[in-house]
Parts: sequence; structure tokens; C-alpha cells
Amino acid sequence: MRFIFAPMEGVTAFPFRRLHAELFPGADTYYAPFLAPDGSGRCRAGRLRDILPENNQGLQLIPQILCGKAEPFLILSRELAAMGYREVNLNAGCPSATVVPKHKGAGLLLDLSALDDFLAEVFSHCPMEISVKTRLGITSPAEFPAILEIYNKYPIVELTIHARDRAGMYRSQPDLAAFAAAVQCSRNPVCYNGNIFAPSDLAAVQAQIPDLGSVMAGRGAAANPALFRQLRGGPALEAGELRDFLFRLESAYLAAGYSEQGTLARLKELWYYMIHMFPESGRSINRLNKAQSLSDYEIAVRALFAGNCFSPSAAFVG
Ligand SMILES: Cc1cc2nc3c(=O)[nH]c(=O)nc-3n(C[C@H](O)[C@H](O)[C@H](O)COP(=O)(O)O)c2cc1C
Repeated sequence: MRFIFAPMEGVTAFPFRRLHAELFPGADTYYAPFLAPDGSGRCRAGRLRDILPENNQGLQLIPQILCGKAEPFLILSRELAAMGYREVNLNAGCPSATVVPKHKGAGLLLDLSALDDFLAEVFSHCPMEISVKTRLGITSPAEFPAILEIYNKYPIVELTIHARDRAGMYRSQPDLAAFAAAVQCSRNPVCYNGNIFAPSDLAAVQAQIPDLGSVMAGRGAAANPALFRQLRGGPALEAGELRDFLFRLESAYLAAGYSEQGTLARLKELWYYMIHMFPESGRSINRLNKAQSLSDYEIAVRALFAGNCFSPSAAFVG
């Protein structure tokens, strides 16, 4: 089984990925959060910095593009190829209301004939292998057979299926039956994505699809950095290693040039997922959420660990 850390904009930037890979090896591959090129294929320097090879040494990283037009996709993919990347991922899953109406992300699934034209163009000219990360449809997984017919026309190196439609955002129950049907009918290798928060969740997917080759997890691995180790049969997360990870992560963001406020925002976002392992955290989490400086934040984190309420089996539940 191949394990993939999902892209998470605002959470899995390069300082996070590097430290995670060092302290919690277990993910074979990391997908970078999306790059969104403008009409001429350019994206913000800060976003490109996230995928520079020198910032991702030792990681198997796949950059991702969020784009609905072939030309900017191809310009940016040539730039990525020049950096040494061999694979680029197409985002066909982002459900955001600011993205979908522009026929990007899951919005690519709105018009299947346009999707076909887009894929025909990028597969003819892209200098790299292309993988796709998709949802099952816009308003219903019943849309997927027609979508898959299009995907099947192209040599997609890996088709990651987030087993929800766009309407389900991150809340609806993943549709395992629709996913299993897609695995049967896909000509390309398929990766499962959606609500893998604990080994029992993976077991439930494997019960339906025993020969599944790869699995991607996002929020579960943000909530519990040892998730991939546990999915491989290893031990549960310990409080000491989590504490070490968090303090080193703070230093890693600062060393990478993130401002104090930028670092604080990213750490708070991560705690949105991690706090589930601290049931009964009470006032400490309020203090953490209200922290205006890293020193306030550190006081709140120390109080959380001193509170003896760490419970690694209290997994994130979506
Ligand atoms: C905060 C956040 C940021 C995300 N950023 C991206 C992204 O940049 N690209 C992408 O393809 N998916 C993105 N996703 C979706 C995840 O990669 C993943 O498909 C989704 O969370 C379902 O998997 P999970 O249940 O394991 O979290 C994001 C999700 C969240 C919650």
C-alpha cells in the first residue's frame, strides 16, 4: 500500500512537510497545495517558493495545479518540469464557491465536453506525467460514470478520487460503493481519499476494495501526525513526540521566513485538527485560539500538555 499526504492549503506548506517527513516517516508521497496560475501561467512567488526543490529535499513531492485553461496549465507545467519534477497533479476537486464557478477545481466537472477538450490539450503537450485528484461529481456520485469515461481516454498516472461530490464539501459520508464501482471501471490506477482518520477507517475501505493500491489522507494526518505510521501497523502517537513536533514546527516556520503572525495562523489552523486529541481541554484551547503572539501561544500549548488530557485514540472525526 502506498500512503500519500494530501495537499492542504494553509496546513502542509514546506516547513510542515519537511518536519513531518523527518519526525513521522510513513507517507511515501506528499502533494503540495495547489498553485493557481494566472492567464499567462504565472503564480505568486510565495506559492512557487513552496515547491522549490531546495525547500523539499528528501521528500517525494508532487506539485498540483488548479486551473481550467490548458495554456496556463502547460506554461506552469513546463516551469515545474524545468525544476526537475516528473509528475504534476491536476486539481479537479476543490469545492470552493470562489473556484467552482470559474470552471476550476471541482468546477472542471460542470461541463464534461470542456473537460475532455482541456485534457486532450494538456495530455498532448505536457512535458510531465499527469495525475488527477477528483471528486465524484458536482451534486451526485451518479455523475461519476460519465466523468470516468472521459478520464479513461487519457493515461492518467494516478487518479485520486475524493469519494464525495462537490455538494458534500468535507462533510458528507464518503461514498464507498461509488468509489468501488469507479475502481472496477477505471483504466488508470486509482487512489482512495476521504475520511481516513484511524486504522479502522482504512480497514473499512479495504473490506470493500481489498486490492486497493494507494490511499491519501489529509485532515486525519494533520490531526495526528503519526497517522501513516499507525496505518502501517506502528504505535500510536505519544504526547512527548507531538510536543516536540509542535515546537520544532514553530521554529521551522520562522526559520523559513514566515512572519510571527503567519506562523501563528498556521499553528492555530493545525490545532483546529489536533485539538480532538485533547478532549476536555477546556480553557486552554480558548487561550490558544485567542493568542495574539507566539509567546501567548506557547503558554497555551504548555498548559494543554500539562493538563493531562492528551488522548491519542480520540481521533479527528470530520
Ligand atoms: C484546509 C484544507 C485545505 C485543502 N487544500 C487542498 C489543496 O490545496 N489541493 C487539493 O487538491 N485539496 C485540498 N484539500 C482537500 C484535501 O486534499 C482532501 O482531499 C480532503 O481533505 C479529503 O481528505 P481527508 O478526509 O483525508 O481530509 C484541502 C482540504 C482542507 C481541509
